[in-house]
Amino acid sequence: MSSINQVVSQIDQARLWERHERLAEIGATSRGGVNRQALSKEEILARKQLREWGSVIGLVPYSDAIGNFFLRYPGENGDLAPVVTGSHIDTQPTGGRFDGSFGVLAALEVIEAMHATGYRPHRSVELVAWTNEEGSRFAPGMMGSAVFRGQRELDAMLAILDSDGVSVGESVAAIRSAESEVCERPLGFSLAAYIEAHIEQGPILELQRKVIGVVSGIQGKRVFRVTVDGEENHAGTSPRAMRKDALVAAVNMIGALHDAIYDSEDVVKFTVGRFEVRPNAPSVVPAAVHFSIDLRHPDDAVLQRLGDSIEPVCTQHQGPCTVAVKELSNDPALEFPVAVRDTIRAIAKDLSISYLDMPSAAGHDARHINYLCPTGMIFIPCEGGISHNEAESCEAEHLFEGARVLAGTVMRLAEMT
Ligand code: GLV
Ligand code: MN
Ligand code: MN
Repeated sequence: MSSINQVVSQIDQARLWERHERLAEIGATSRGGVNRQALSKEEILARKQLREWGSVIGLVPYSDAIGNFFLRYPGENGDLAPVVTGSHIDTQPTGGRFDGSFGVLAALEVIEAMHATGYRPHRSVELVAWTNEEGSRFAPGMMGSAVFRGQRELDAMLAILDSDGVSVGESVAAIRSAESEVCERPLGFSLAAYIEAHIEQGPILELQRKVIGVVSGIQGKRVFRVTVDGEENHAGTSPRAMRKDALVAAVNMIGALHDAIYDSEDVVKFTVGRFEVRPNAPSVVPAAVHFSIDLRHPDDAVLQRLGDSIEPVCTQHQGPCTVAVKELSNDPALEFPVAVRDTIRAIAKDLSISYLDMPSAAGHDARHINYLCPTGMIFIPCEGGISHNEAESCEAEHLFEGARVLAGTVMRLAEMT
């Protein structure tokens, strides 16, 4: 039996499922989902649980200056760049049990299986949980991987505040003090390869009745924050002509953007997911509105054109108010290297697991790491394609098959000289 088959045979479906259930208890919501936002006390507890599982098989934990978390399984040649695999364990406020967690727990399962057979890879294999992938408590998302890549400045990210005025820096410090035994390591060390397993978060695999998505790339995404400023006034006395109603202006802008960006083919994705009104009092004309725009498209030229149209459309509909459009991130579409995709496909074939080549419509930390080393992603189906929702659900068998393909892929990559 080849060493790949030996290790893959040690992937344990029950253990993998139970660990998802256990992790989902940390930040569990009453509706069966998870609220474990980035750098929160719940995330500290989840990281503690990961460390405890890792310590049973002797994995050494590390963390870096933005709080990215690693568990290292040493290879025969500890000086060589490691193969890294994982995802994130932060969630949306009404998140599910599998988004991110699957990639991290599958990585742990792969290392467990290697350990169980006594297999030592040529290169070390490391699990990673990147900081703040979701970008809900602190924007922008994919923060840990972007800083690791060097695309974003550490200090600028540490200064970002949540809605309660708590900074990323204070929150990373809180994690650090709760993890005094975790070794610090430099940001952005070299990687031999990066593989991220993830739930698809869309309906395609389920509709096509395939178990593995061999991810070809990730569509482009631009994120904006729009601020509309008006003026408070009395709801009973102020004449309409004198009002600077920021809410009316914001609603007009969103309506106009929706019409301008509407795509009958449904390829363009345009979402206003956050909308805040100040002072948010029933008898006061709204003085300010902040809203978010999440814009995605697989074609960079279209993404640039549509994104660039946002500011003029908003200005055109500002009425007596003023508007400022700030771009928080602009990530082009990307393709993962063919060689990594070929490896994932070959492993799925060898294991007789059905697969499909497909792009990712969702964003992932692999987006950033792709610019540092050969990178790839493995998808598994999720029920009804529902994600960023407490009802998110997956089959235990699909988690298991995904972890098996991940194990074979990581082993192939960790044998690279
Ligand atoms: C990731 O969470 C995304 O929003 O695509
Ligand atoms: Mn995710
Ligand atoms: Mn997500």
